[in-house]
Amino acid sequence: MSNRIQRWKENKIGWHRNKPNSKLIEFINCLHLEQGDQVFVPLCGKSIDMMYLLDQGYRVLGVELSTLAAEQFFVENKIEYSIHQSGEFSVYSANNIQMYCGDYFKLKPEDLKSVVAVYDRASLIALPLELRVKYASHLYSIITKGCRVLLLTLNYPQSQISGPPFAVNKEEVWSLYEEGFECQQLACFNDIENEPKFQRANVDFIEKATYCLRKKVGEKMAKKIKGVVAQFGTKGYGFITGDDGEKYFVHQKNIFNKSRLKANTRVVFNAEESDKGLVATNVVLEGGSKAASSSSNGSSNGMIKFAITILFIAQAVVIYKVFFASVVG
Ligand SMILES: C[S@@+](CC[C@H](N)C(=O)[O-])C[C@H]1O[C@@H](n2cnc3c(N)ncnc32)[C@H](O)[C@@H]1O
Repeated sequence: MSNRIQRWKENKIGWHRNKPNSKLIEFINCLHLEQGDQVFVPLCGKSIDMMYLLDQGYRVLGVELSTLAAEQFFVENKIEYSIHQSGEFSVYSANNIQMYCGDYFKLKPEDLKSVVAVYDRASLIALPLELRVKYASHLYSIITKGCRVLLLTLNYPQSQISGPPFAVNKEEVWSLYEEGFECQQLACFNDIENEPKFQRANVDFIEKATYCLRKKVGEKMAKKIKGVVAQFGTKGYGFITGDDGEKYFVHQKNIFNKSRLKANTRVVFNAEESDKGLVATNVVLEGGSKAASSSSNGSSNGMIKFAITILFIAQAVVIYKVFFASVVG
């Protein structure tokens, strides 16, 4: 966390843009906003997109760790502001905008009770996988039912260049949100031509995607739990011992990327109850990497089967020859 504050101190804020995001302008209608509605901007930095929202007649509620970001936002946009304390947050406020300075994960539903929509640009993708899981589930827990989210993401081959921003593909957006939100992809295009940093690193592509999510009415998102893989067999299922002491059945189809798990690996998952007992779904490795052991295991198993088959055929040929020779001879 101090690393992020340090970036503001050193002015290393390469994500900041000086004009409103074109996808916000293009797709703002998907949020179904009316004049005076309040839009939540998580991990807001000093985003100029907040000025765009204010200029359209909406109210803004931002949350940002760095007080420097908040000060710069108000000073650079020539907005007079006051500061007051609310719980763990220093709240920078002016007409129609409040910026909560503090940790997003400490926000409570009562802080967002007037919020009707969320705008996420460079926020989810600023976080490593484990925090993204926590971020999505926290967002679900603090916004009201029916609340809409305009989400912008990037996707590129993560093995070719490291984040942040981190690569988040459609599959991951669904895995993070589908349970509690109706999800729709609005746009997705390769923008490598406008990304010199990615070109220099010879990255194959960089997809920019826009999603509209709507928090489902009357459904609950499953509880997130951490635990350790107790066993996982070649048939594609096994058990996880949750940190809550419970034993969870896990099937390969419920693992991110449909990969296999190794025993003793730490994982994060949704805890669900079924007729047959506790089940783990949306399983990801704790600490970030998406896949566990998988295709490489699959291919080595394949090689072993192939070698045994060849051995078996060779033996059959030898036995046949010996038998044939003794009969003929
Ligand atoms: C990549 S920047 C994006 C800022 C903004 N969304 C934009 O488009 O310019 C991510 C921001 O999130 C802030 N941040 C990171 N973790 C946070 C947390 N747990 N709570 C609040 N802000 C956080 C960082 O200080 C940084 O300003």
